[in-house]
Amino acid sequence: MYRTHTCGELNIKDVNQEVTLCGWVQRSRDLGGMTFIDLRDRYGITQLAFNMETNAELCLQARKLGREFVIQVVGKVVERYSKNKNLPTGDIEIEVKEIHLLNEAKTPPFTIEDNSDGGDDLRMAFRYLDIRRKPVQQNLIFRHHLAMEIRNYLNQLGFIEIETPFLMKSTPEGARDFVVPSRMNPGEFYALPQSPQQFKQLLMVAGMDKYFQIVRCFRDEDLRADRQPEFTQVDCELSFVGQEDIMQTFEGLFKYLFKKLKNISFDNFPRITYADAMRLYGCDKPDMRFDMQFVELNDVLQHRDFKVFNEAELVVGICAKGCGGYTRKQLDELTEFVKRPQVGAAGLVYILCHQDGTFKSSVDKFYSQEDLKKVAEKCHAQNGDLILILSGKTEKTQKALCELRLEMGNRLGLRKPDEFKPLWVIDFPLLEWDEETQRFYAKHHPFTSPKTEDIAKLENAPAEVRANAYDLVINGTEVGGGSIRIFQKELQQKMFKVLGFTPENAQKQFGFLMNAFEYGAPPHGGIAFGFDRMCAIFNGSDSIRDFIAFPKNNSGRDTMSNAPSAISEEQLNELCIALKTEKQ
Ligand code: AMO
Repeated sequence: MYRTHTCGELNIKDVNQEVTLCGWVQRSRDLGGMTFIDLRDRYGITQLAFNMETNAELCLQARKLGREFVIQVVGKVVERYSKNKNLPTGDIEIEVKEIHLLNEAKTPPFTIEDNSDGGDDLRMAFRYLDIRRKPVQQNLIFRHHLAMEIRNYLNQLGFIEIETPFLMKSTPEGARDFVVPSRMNPGEFYALPQSPQQFKQLLMVAGMDKYFQIVRCFRDEDLRADRQPEFTQVDCELSFVGQEDIMQTFEGLFKYLFKKLKNISFDNFPRITYADAMRLYGCDKPDMRFDMQFVELNDVLQHRDFKVFNEAELVVGICAKGCGGYTRKQLDELTEFVKRPQVGAAGLVYILCHQDGTFKSSVDKFYSQEDLKKVAEKCHAQNGDLILILSGKTEKTQKALCELRLEMGNRLGLRKPDEFKPLWVIDFPLLEWDEETQRFYAKHHPFTSPKTEDIAKLENAPAEVRANAYDLVINGTEVGGGSIRIFQKELQQKMFKVLGFTPENAQKQFGFLMNAFEYGAPPHGGIAFGFDRMCAIFNGSDSIRDFIAFPKNNSGRDTMSNAPSAISEEQLNELCIALKTEKQ
């Protein structure tokens, strides 16, 4: 037997037991007469003690052990003189009798402790060493528990987990596909699924009724802290359901998970329409941990001499409570913030509401104290508050003020990582107009059904058609999204027409799904949650990479294996792929 116990389980009750432990040398300390080693495994750390007086040979052997050497020790559990209250094993240590060196280790490039001295890139290049650290292990263990609980819950509701193919047909719409050349079919390619959307709909046609899958998805898109090229979804689909059934079912799942994993109970999750979310928060995934709603100010601020506001489609502000004492420097910082290309505003107007009831604004030249008072009233600002105003084209201004609202939330410490505010966003528009290609795109995907009462508008006013689509947002992150699907062929064809597909093209790209719908498709709908995002949100983290064992960096590279990489001439020939050389 390699070990009788793990490094995390021995305590005062085990004193005098003879034990065998295995693990990695985290660190050793020589205190003259005594040498101590912290032995680490996945379960914890146990202190090993070596006494120079009683066993000099063994003590000298212990002193030679380097960091991360893999050892096995045999010894007796004894009570410690100086206890470590921070460790579960902190009351005891092992009086070692034998050391067996199982493997040596090179000196690791960073310290393998809770707080490592390694930078992000270095830790990713040696991710197997990084994963030895407790915080990283805990994240992966949390991920495992979350998956187990999701499976438990959905299994109890009668959902069946079914695997769908990873090698599938490339279809347009959505993000860019990752493609895989087919050796046996020269010149032809598979695509890796961006989601199992079409397969799960086929499973409904197949009568599987309640499907789920914790499944890897692949999207070739620009990366951010909450986006990876390969990520995991909790993908679900149900038959004979409406929007309300789906929202209830999965609200139930989240309430269960929050209770089980965080011991937090929730009332029913609030809901907001897409239109209201845009009007009040400037985005379709508002962070509800703090208020600071948008207030439209066109009526009070236009029609004076300030050209910028007069020419704007939207003049809109937020009130930052208690910030009326902001200094010139702080206000300049905010102006710089909104002018950043990612935010995109041309400038920022502020109104400081002084404690004495007077106002100081960056547009005093154009507005009287009376005007500013009206603005303050409209924004529910009190003495000591700060009003921040942006103006311009509606969408652009909403987006910029949304960023500024989040920035103020950060500055005021209102986005607490241990507070959770779920929100359903409903009634999304079905379609989105793209200026560049001059056509409509499906906002969610081409299989999302329009609201029955809006179907008549599909031909004449497509932009006004609302979808039976819903997103679950927690703390400003889109955790999941889904919709009720189109299940009648005629409506699907109509939708493809609006999206600019000829019937032949639609048949070519999506024929397999449309044909299946002719064989008795039930009404159905579903939702998919970003599993990596769920892990991050439950732990108050912004980055999903912390919860993925081997994530890619921001350029989509795996710096450990150095993927992607060139492939050999032979492989290319076999796949009938000719790379363009510079000369060509
Ligand atoms: P959608 O595209 O909204 O819907 O994706 C569902 C959820 O997946 C997560 N997600 C991501 N997570 C990490 N990295 C990414 N690159 C990434 N992209 C998406 C998000 C998102 O809410 N088939 C539909 C669902 C349906 O209609 O049932 C779909 O894939 O949390």
